[in-house]
Amino acid sequence: MSNVLAVQSLGGNKREAKRFSDASEESFRRFRSEAFIKLLTGLVWGLSFLFGQIIFFLVMAGYVIDGTFTAGDYFVLFYYFFVLSAVFSAFGGLYVELQSYIAGLRRVFFLLDLPTEKNSEGTTLPPIQSGIKMEHVGLTYPDGRRALRDINLEAKVGEIIALVGPTGAGKTSLAFLAPAFLQATEGRVSIDGTDLKDVSVSSLRDQVSYVFQETQLFSDSIVNNIRYGNQRATQEEVEAVARVAGAHDFIMALPEGYDTSLGTVTSKLSVGQKQRISIARGLLRDSKMLILDEPTSALDPETEAYLVDALNEAAKNKLVIIVAHRLSTITHADRIYFLESGEIRESGSHQDLMSIKGGHYRDYVMMQAGR
Ligand SMILES: Nc1ncnc2c1ncn2[C@@H]1O[C@H](COP(=O)(O)OP(=O)(O)O)[C@@H](O)[C@H]1O
Ligand SMILES: [Mg+2]
Repeated sequence: MSNVLAVQSLGGNKREAKRFSDASEESFRRFRSEAFIKLLTGLVWGLSFLFGQIIFFLVMAGYVIDGTFTAGDYFVLFYYFFVLSAVFSAFGGLYVELQSYIAGLRRVFFLLDLPTEKNSEGTTLPPIQSGIKMEHVGLTYPDGRRALRDINLEAKVGEIIALVGPTGAGKTSLAFLAPAFLQATEGRVSIDGTDLKDVSVSSLRDQVSYVFQETQLFSDSIVNNIRYGNQRATQEEVEAVARVAGAHDFIMALPEGYDTSLGTVTSKLSVGQKQRISIARGLLRDSKMLILDEPTSALDPETEAYLVDALNEAAKNKLVIIVAHRLSTITHADRIYFLESGEIRESGSHQDLMSIKGGHYRDYVMMQAGR
């Protein structure tokens, strides 16, 4: 997530991103030259100290012999020699030491200098009535990689929209545009006609539940993890969504049930179990827009059927966007967008798309069925 936020704060600014990767390279370069300089200075310093000592000893011995210095002077001068050489050695080391901090400092200031999200700036988005619309939307990541091109999409409250396509097609990137985790670099994303660029981020995200592809759980009890999006939910409500997400049974099998702390047990939960807890959290949060990124990847068919029913129920007063690859989930969608290489190749209902002979979606479905 922090990664996402960082990318998003970069705001698609290629130059900034380049500065950041330049900073990483600089860090490496400085580290390398630091190690080299340290080695070299250690060697040079050791040798010159030895030679300095010998020359000093010989010169001073000469002065003592010809009577310019007494033997006492000789020891005092030798003492000064050692003290001063220690000081100069420390100064020399300081320069080398500083090299490693400069690159680090530059990175810290780079992050501090990033523009903050417009949390409270911009207009407050009123409760979502109609839906979201994307017109000629394009997205290029700060590193210059293009993820989306000329996306035209519409999703209304009461609908289930499915994003389908191969890995790397841009489904997650597209889903990230709705809650403004990412901002379109081209085109216009609007909700009820208001451009998301003008909307305060917090008023938008208050109305969106997002179940991430990678689950995010906290070191707290399971019940608190599910309740995260809706603090006022009762125990019954929590258990109801956990049932829908197929999490109730395995939670009950844990020694402390819903009060089991994930801080100690998370390593014992499977990816699928963690995902179910995340789904339950997303379902519990009462928001106008529900986005699920590949939620069914770790669900068994029975749980999945349950979830599809729940989504159909939820979609009555919500806008549901689901990134999915399982057919049973997709076929229920009101509209499917088939993505490939960052572009929408086809859109329509399952029946519409299946009737296109040699169509991308049809091929995709056939391939799945053939497995
Ligand atoms: N943070 C990022 N920075 C740069 N490129 C990215 C980033 N995230 C994803 N991409 C690229 O964008 C493209 C679409 O990725 P993604 O939206 O995750 O696809 P999908 O969810 O369909 O598998 C891929 O080519 C991917 O490498
Ligand atoms: Mg993805």
